[in-house]
Amino acid sequence: MKQMNYSPGLEGVVAGETAVACVDQGKLLYRGYAIGDLAERATFEEVAHLLVYGDLPNSEQLRRVQERLLEYRKLHELVVACLRRIPAAVPMMDVLRTGISMAGHFDPIVGDTLPDLQLRALWLSAQSAAIVATRYSVLNGQEPIAPRPDLSHAAQILYQAQGQEPDALSARLLDLTLILYAEHEFNASTFTARVICSTLSDMVSAVVGGIGALKGSLHGGANEKAMEMLLQFRTADEASQWVRETLMKKEKVMGFGHRVYKHGDHRAHILERELRKLAELKNAGEWMAIYDAIKDPMVNEKRIYPNVDYPCGLTYYLLGLPIDLYTPLFVCARMVGWCAHYIEQATDNRLYRPLSRYTGPVERKVWPIGER
Ligand SMILES: CC(C)(COP(=O)(O)OP(=O)(O)OC[C@H]1O[C@@H](n2cnc3c(N)ncnc32)[C@H](O)[C@@H]1OP(=O)(O)O)[C@@H](O)C(=O)NCCC(=O)NCCS
Repeated sequence: MKQMNYSPGLEGVVAGETAVACVDQGKLLYRGYAIGDLAERATFEEVAHLLVYGDLPNSEQLRRVQERLLEYRKLHELVVACLRRIPAAVPMMDVLRTGISMAGHFDPIVGDTLPDLQLRALWLSAQSAAIVATRYSVLNGQEPIAPRPDLSHAAQILYQAQGQEPDALSARLLDLTLILYAEHEFNASTFTARVICSTLSDMVSAVVGGIGALKGSLHGGANEKAMEMLLQFRTADEASQWVRETLMKKEKVMGFGHRVYKHGDHRAHILERELRKLAELKNAGEWMAIYDAIKDPMVNEKRIYPNVDYPCGLTYYLLGLPIDLYTPLFVCARMVGWCAHYIEQATDNRLYRPLSRYTGPVERKVWPIGER
């Protein structure tokens, strides 16, 4: 057979063009803005506008995005009924995947022009937040809580899920994680969404595919796995011993390593700085000692750096969020990134249809059944 170029996992392969985001020499930019600047000076709503409409909003544009995100939080009654009836043991990511698919049947935006697609992106973003919050409150035996017009998108998620207005620090930290998670060029779930779009399928199908890809523990599922890992230990010594044994066995440590960043993930630095402040405020020094006991040998001895999921797991934990909400919150953030890529792909489309290298038997004869 003819030999063809092959890169397992498409490592190093340029699979398309994008103006949405790039990682340039380890620096992440959303449409030209450095992630550090956005984290410091913008809110999730501004970043959502940036990704979906191409630039940061002025005050009038921001007001409109905020209004849309509020209005689009309303779930159709059949979606709420579905969220009540899915068995309690079903993981939140599966519920969210079903919820978005179900909500798609009641999509209030008609058409597929650019403005329609941009509005649908905001609608999907708001619906994902409402689905997570509603499912969480019904699981806790509470009635779904109506959104409050005065709250930010992040504060609203916490308010609707927990039934009380979050403190400013919790709202700001959730907002920060939403900004950091919103977009990351051709990662696995975004690529999935683009492949689906490339067949001329619809935006809802593309993001449902994205949710399926994000759920895996090598991708977004790592924030939950990283926290489950930390919860095994009562002391830093236990963690330290465990990480050494794990590395000896050549097993993966969740929340570390990255296909693109080989010298550290800037998002992890940004979040870790805030996590340390949060831990101090919450008197959670022992958790930080466990966190460092894993991180130090990974970085100093193995040169494998934490990715954003490592500090995110502990941040969400210290904010009092249940573990199976961590990856769904990642979805709430990444929804705008997926949709921005969907729009870009749809605007200049070519079907994704790569080749494979065949490793099966050479051609063989089909013998009659009695002779096999
Ligand atoms: C993200 C990830 C899949 C990227 O993987 P990749 O680019 O395919 O890199 P590889 O898995 O081939 O790793 C390269 C080497 O680093 C090691 N490595 C990478 N991540 C590691 C981790 N988290 N723990 C321990 N070793 C790791 C691999 O074992 C491999 O070592 P080897 O060359 O001795 O075999 C990988 O780092 C990983 O599984 N991380 C844990 C899951 C995670 O946190 N995912 C979220 C990503 S944002």
